[in-house]
Amino acid sequence: MAHTLAQARAWNATLKTARPELTALFVGGTSGIGRSTAIKLAGSIAKPTIYIVGRNEKAGAQILEEMKAANNNGSYSLIPADVSDLRKVDTVCQDLKSKVKALDLLFLSTGGITFSKQETDAKIDVNHILRYYSRMRFVYNLLPTLEAANSPRVVSILAGGKEINIEEDNLDLQKEFSFSASNGYPTSMTSLAFDTLASEHPSVSFLHVFPGIVATPLMNKTIGSVLGTIVGFLAKPISISMADSGEWQTRLSTSTDFPSKQDSTDASAVGYYMLNHDGKDSTNKALMEELREKGFPAIVWKHTLATFDRICA
Ligand SMILES: NC(=O)c1ccc[n+]([C@@H]2O[C@H](COP(=O)([O-])OP(=O)(O)OC[C@H]3O[C@@H](n4cnc5c(N)ncnc54)[C@H](OP(=O)(O)O)[C@@H]3O)[C@@H](O)[C@H]2O)c1
Repeated sequence: MAHTLAQARAWNATLKTARPELTALFVGGTSGIGRSTAIKLAGSIAKPTIYIVGRNEKAGAQILEEMKAANNNGSYSLIPADVSDLRKVDTVCQDLKSKVKALDLLFLSTGGITFSKQETDAKIDVNHILRYYSRMRFVYNLLPTLEAANSPRVVSILAGGKEINIEEDNLDLQKEFSFSASNGYPTSMTSLAFDTLASEHPSVSFLHVFPGIVATPLMNKTIGSVLGTIVGFLAKPISISMADSGEWQTRLSTSTDFPSKQDSTDASAVGYYMLNHDGKDSTNKALMEELREKGFPAIVWKHTLATFDRICA
């Protein structure tokens, strides 16, 4: 259900009593949307346990301080890692599993915008890995830890509702790489993977979120600080501040409006959601139906598992 910002803030203010404890992992928590949500969540829960993953240790240390300043009763840790390598994802997950018995929230926001292909050793564009495979590897590895929590949730910040038609022989963007494909493929693949995962793991709720245009460092990182500042200035009238994004995403990460398949009172519930930042359903029903009819949820997940085997075996 769509909320106003005031309603999102009011919901977040209830969390201190409604959810006094919560354990979360933010992959991509050292900047932007992950960072602002981690800090807002830290201040909203009475006793939060928050882990953040990213490469930038200096930024990470600063965010740990900001979370402490928001709430001194929480436990905050940085796990520095480059998660464009799926084997590093496995190491991070093993480390986390040794410390956390039940994970309430897995918040995924790694990656950025790509204009040209940059292949890793795995022969896949680095941003495609960060926005899809690496995130799904976290989900895959941490499903038992999520399932040990009472109402676990996975949130992937990308472009829910902006799926495109995809081709089975281009899932790794080897046949065609364009700006549109590099954005559209991970978007479609995330929604299709969540279709499969939500049905196989009915106690977990899966949210694929389009966060709006958020004023994060993303644009400066992509096109340089001069151009990025100009674009940021021009986009200001339509952009969401980092602080407000933290409010929106904290609400989506904790709201009871998006229950798992198992927890839903609606018999037709599927347990996964494509949403705008305000919680409005953004599902492209016709396209998702077409992709489902062509068998893409199973095709994408089978390909994902095969890619995991190829890289991590
Ligand atoms: N901002 C927007 O308006 C907007 C709109 C739609 C969709 N999105 C999507 O939302 C996601 C988050 O965007 P944002 O604006 O928050 O971006 P951001 O500020 O650049 O944050 C990206 C995060 O990803 C992490 N990251 C990047 N490469 C990594 C790697 N190899 N290993 C580990 N962590 C890595 C960064 O940490 P380190 O640098 O510390 O590694 C950082 O924490 C992106 O996928 C973006 O495409 C954003």
